[in-house]
Amino acid sequence: MSEVNQYISSNKDRFLSELLDLLRIPSISADSRYKEDVLKAAGFIKDRLIEAGADKAEVCETAGHPIVYGEKLVDSALPTVLVYGHYDVQPPDPLDLWDSPPFEPVIKETELHPQGAIFARGSCDDKGQVYMHVKAFEAMMETGELACNVKFIIEGEEEVGSENLETFLKDNTEMLSADVVLVSDTGIIANDVPSITVGLRGLSYVEVEVSGPNRDLHSGLYGGAVPNPINILAEMIASLKTEDQKINIPGFYDDVEILSTEERQEMAKAPFDLEEYKDSIGLSDVEGEEGYSSMERASIRPTLDVNGIWGGYTGEGAKTVIASKAYAKISMRLVPNQDPDKITELFARHFESIAPDSVSVKVTPHHGGQPAVTPTDSPAYQAASKAMETTFGKKPIPFRGGGSIPIVALFEQILGLKTVLMGFGLDSDAIHSPNEHYGVFNYFKGIETIPEFFKNFAEMSK
Ligand code: BES
Ligand code: MN
Ligand code: MN
Repeated sequence: MSEVNQYISSNKDRFLSELLDLLRIPSISADSRYKEDVLKAAGFIKDRLIEAGADKAEVCETAGHPIVYGEKLVDSALPTVLVYGHYDVQPPDPLDLWDSPPFEPVIKETELHPQGAIFARGSCDDKGQVYMHVKAFEAMMETGELACNVKFIIEGEEEVGSENLETFLKDNTEMLSADVVLVSDTGIIANDVPSITVGLRGLSYVEVEVSGPNRDLHSGLYGGAVPNPINILAEMIASLKTEDQKINIPGFYDDVEILSTEERQEMAKAPFDLEEYKDSIGLSDVEGEEGYSSMERASIRPTLDVNGIWGGYTGEGAKTVIASKAYAKISMRLVPNQDPDKITELFARHFESIAPDSVSVKVTPHHGGQPAVTPTDSPAYQAASKAMETTFGKKPIPFRGGGSIPIVALFEQILGLKTVLMGFGLDSDAIHSPNEHYGVFNYFKGIETIPEFFKNFAEMSK
């Protein structure tokens, strides 16, 4: 066993208990009531980086939640790895669907995690994966095996759109100079099917409001003679997709990257079991755009989904009312070459155009993000591939993911850096959902794989 692995295996209990301490801090970025806890989580990461051997680590203020920056520069002749992650988490709602409290981590076995999984909000997304980097760094420092310079940028606003990170990158291009960005905030196909994410979707997110009468009306006195904003909103939303599940917004597909048959055949080699997929989420059937597989629908094709819809009376019992207003939140996942601002604009224009004269509509854009594809022919990808091959005993499969990490495109635009998405979660880990968890196996696999990456990257950059 190598010295680093020796060090990791003799410190396992502590590595796990420290992560549990981090998971106890409810760093919910979306909810201003948790501002102090967000700050506390930032301080926690900063302190652990210093303890692990960073030359410098600081909590950098922004207009929103702070960014933790840390670094260990060994030798200017060596390549530099910029590690990115986020310490903020999604709100845990709905609370009553958790089997144990979201910020009181417990370890339980599951079918896919026979070695146990840590149940807590943020365990997989992304505190558990960020902390792998902190502990891998400690292990490399303690054994004298840190083979590259390393910089850490761990933010507290990923789950709310990374709005202040862009400015931070622009203001600190010198400090953040590096050779590659390494991110563990994605997943693998299965614990015995290692993979590396090579594509992320972009995002356009809007809120819509449909206004009818100037007040809520008695549905008997007025019903049948006036526009009902909720009915109209439902009709408008229904018209946004065609029978064969194409998105019905003029121009929406104009810039969509079309993959070649060869590329699609290559992608189809990744293992995917439709029955298992349906079973795992309790569905009797799937649906989606005609002409594409489920895997393609959730990665290389754009989507439009209602994330929330409300209006009128939703309390107990029946109230006969025609609401004055109806609302919905709508997200569109985008694929390479689609521009989020352009799509938002196309959506807004179209949505306004399909509204009947009897109502008025308002479209408010929320944060968006650009799609990203990462190369597989770079030294950094090869370093990650070889690292995973060493620790999993199998060569990882490159695959495109369906989620979004908007900052990845900006690393390239602002810092000129490519990213390697070497994540260790599973789709079944329930990120953003009740009972989020992260495999103990995955946590330690990550801690073991990261030093291999550093070693390989130094070697390949020579
Ligand atoms: N880590 C996720 C994104 C992710 C998860 C990508 C799994 C690929 C595989 C990230 O924290 C996230 O949730 N991103 C948001 C976007 C953001 C703008 C709120 C998303 O994808 O909804
Ligand atoms: Mn994340
Ligand atoms: Mn997330």
